[in-house]
Amino acid sequence: MNTQRFTAREADRAAEILKAGGLLGIPTETVYGLGANGLDPEAVARIFAAKGRPQDNPLILHIPSADWLERYCLDIPNGAYALARRFWPGPLTMILKRRSVVPDVVTAGLDTVGMRCPAHPVCRAILTAAGVPVAAPSGNTSGRPSPTNMADMLEDMDGKIEGIVDGGPCSVGVESTIVDLTVTPPRLLRPGGVTLEELRDVLGEVAVDAAVTRLMGADEHPRAPGMKYRHYAPKAPVTVVQGDPAESARYIRRHVGDRDGVICFDEFVPLFEGHPTEAMGPAADQAEQARRVFDALRYFDGTGVEQIWAQGPDPSGIGLAVSNRLNKAAGFHIVQV
Ligand code: TXA
Ligand code: MG
Repeated sequence: MNTQRFTAREADRAAEILKAGGLLGIPTETVYGLGANGLDPEAVARIFAAKGRPQDNPLILHIPSADWLERYCLDIPNGAYALARRFWPGPLTMILKRRSVVPDVVTAGLDTVGMRCPAHPVCRAILTAAGVPVAAPSGNTSGRPSPTNMADMLEDMDGKIEGIVDGGPCSVGVESTIVDLTVTPPRLLRPGGVTLEELRDVLGEVAVDAAVTRLMGADEHPRAPGMKYRHYAPKAPVTVVQGDPAESARYIRRHVGDRDGVICFDEFVPLFEGHPTEAMGPAADQAEQARRVFDALRYFDGTGVEQIWAQGPDPSGIGLAVSNRLNKAAGFHIVQV
């Protein structure tokens, strides 16, 4: 299949692919998504095939405005409207009770559905032109780091999808925050662009799902089915070293093998001369770390390194999301210094 490239100004033409039951790579402010008409079960089924995604992992429905929530969701609590007013359009997904119009293939048979209203202007133009809710997981092959620019998505999807729209590099760089509003208190299932602190500011108490901070056992079932899978992982094994940045850099310097790679903050790059190194931004710039983390993880697959050492970021604010993605890439293989 020839994957058609569209510029940001061709959103209308690109949306025709969605209307015709095709798969379209769409830019969002978090990561690039692999979109299909969310009301067309056959189109949605093709997403799972293109990604190699397990069938029990549900998809998020993307809508152009909060007004669409009632079309697809039931028993919407006040907290959901409060979150929508504060954070939509933006990097937040809400788990709500679904209506029966939402096909089973989208929700993997669950009685809930993830709803998100993205902020990226090109994505919004595509959603508006398509006129349907768009089911879209991240645009990577299942298990690989999520794509944060068009080239990364083409690396995984060229020839497997009808089209892709170039919206430039993603401004957030990690996927949306997922909060489950069908339980009391609401529960954070995946940290992302909207921080836990911001959620608590609107909702009061918010629980944090165990899958955010530790490896799930084979017999455990996290509330976001996707959180149980090995994820974001480069070919080489990853070790995350958590602690004060100067300390973690020294620890890695002492342990790094000749053929190992390093993910570190900008300040510490000179310590690792001679090693394949990816800089994640300054230690104090969490937003930049979020934008760079997936590209850093992707980079090493072309280098043949034996192991990857990563400095763990400060887990406050959006750092919780960056830390979660690195820890998952490491299979929660973490050293505390
Ligand atoms: O930022 C994002 O959310 C990106 C962009 C494209 O919008 N999308 C994304 O989708 O990250 P995906 O499929 O890669 O991750 C969605 C996560 C999975 O872990 C899935 O299990 C969980 O959301 N999820 C989806 N529907 C759910 C539901 N009804 N209940 C619990 N978890 C759900
Ligand atoms: Mg994903």
